[in-house]
Amino acid sequence: MPQYRIAWMPGDGVGNDVMDAAKIVLDTLKLDAEYIPADIGWHFWCTEGNPLPDRTLATLKETNCALFGAITSKPRDEAEAELAPELKGKGLLYSSPIVALRQTFKLGTNLRPCKAYPGNPLNYKEGIDLVVFRENTEDLYSGVEFHPVPDEVRQTLAKHNNKMNKFDHVDAQDLAMSCRINSRQACRSIVTAGFEYAKKFGYKTVTVVEKPNVIRETSGLMIRTARNVAKEYPDIALWEANIDAMCMWLIKNPENYGVLVASNMFGDIISDLCAQLVGGLGFAASGNISDEFAVFEPTHGSAPKYEGQYKVNPMAMLLTTKLMLDWLGEVDMATRLETSIATVIKEGKHRTYDMGGSSSTLEVAEAVAANL
Ligand code: IPM
Ligand code: MN
Repeated sequence: MPQYRIAWMPGDGVGNDVMDAAKIVLDTLKLDAEYIPADIGWHFWCTEGNPLPDRTLATLKETNCALFGAITSKPRDEAEAELAPELKGKGLLYSSPIVALRQTFKLGTNLRPCKAYPGNPLNYKEGIDLVVFRENTEDLYSGVEFHPVPDEVRQTLAKHNNKMNKFDHVDAQDLAMSCRINSRQACRSIVTAGFEYAKKFGYKTVTVVEKPNVIRETSGLMIRTARNVAKEYPDIALWEANIDAMCMWLIKNPENYGVLVASNMFGDIISDLCAQLVGGLGFAASGNISDEFAVFEPTHGSAPKYEGQYKVNPMAMLLTTKLMLDWLGEVDMATRLETSIATVIKEGKHRTYDMGGSSSTLEVAEAVAANL
């Protein structure tokens, strides 16, 4: 029996193109794995009313981890319009399957390394080596939202906080509320993950990116927890930055930073900024991680107009594959893969269109495989 069972989820659009690229390098590395296809994505929303069918969840429970391509998502009305006729008008609501996977499998850490590989013409600056640790299940993604806000909720809040008074004159149907809910446990866990990574890979700083001067309780809990955790790592400096200022600093001197830790929403925002510093979505890898299970995905979308054209940059997917190998404990394979990716970038002979080249997705993957 193969050592690993890996769920194989191309998803939508170019997800399939880049997963084919990943398969080329995994086969060349001879990872001892069985790849189990699993259904996810827009097609299953349209035909079954669920982009993440129960059978997929069942399959995932039988695997070590999953590799995921890309997903299409559309606003509510467009999503409803594309449903099969027999599913229309049943009150089905589209929601992101990747968010559902993070919640269902309690994948509390979203790891997003952003490194400027030498020779990448898309680098914003040289010397950038950022690693974002984004809390992945709570915060504004908790899903506790109201519109209209029920009277009971309003009254209860007003009893505990007089700032609620300023909405007294607003009708319930004219009021929307999305709760930012953060637990000490999740704050501690994401900060610890950041510090452990810094310790293991020699980063000198961990910067917690929040906004505790205004969002006193949730951002405050993150910062207070971080100060406690930091005491256990005397050799690593804890830096504190507000999210708005941090966007400025990252444009000004990104090379000064190392590990960044943030709550879910701020981490979402800052990881796009960091990705653009090192070549954009074509280079943005990510892992949704817990100790027991993980889902690895490039951060880019499904780019439907390029579907099946093998045109898009597979680097994000290949770097994502590297993260998966690390998580599986195949550190030697992971290192070889990253070295080979770096070589192909540096040589500049095989580049997709976004890097100014004309190579196909698979040609780039073949070049990486040839250097392994
Ligand atoms: C990401 C994406 C997702 C998120 C979307 C697709 C729900 O932007 O992985 O960063 O908001 O987390
Ligand atoms: Mn995002």
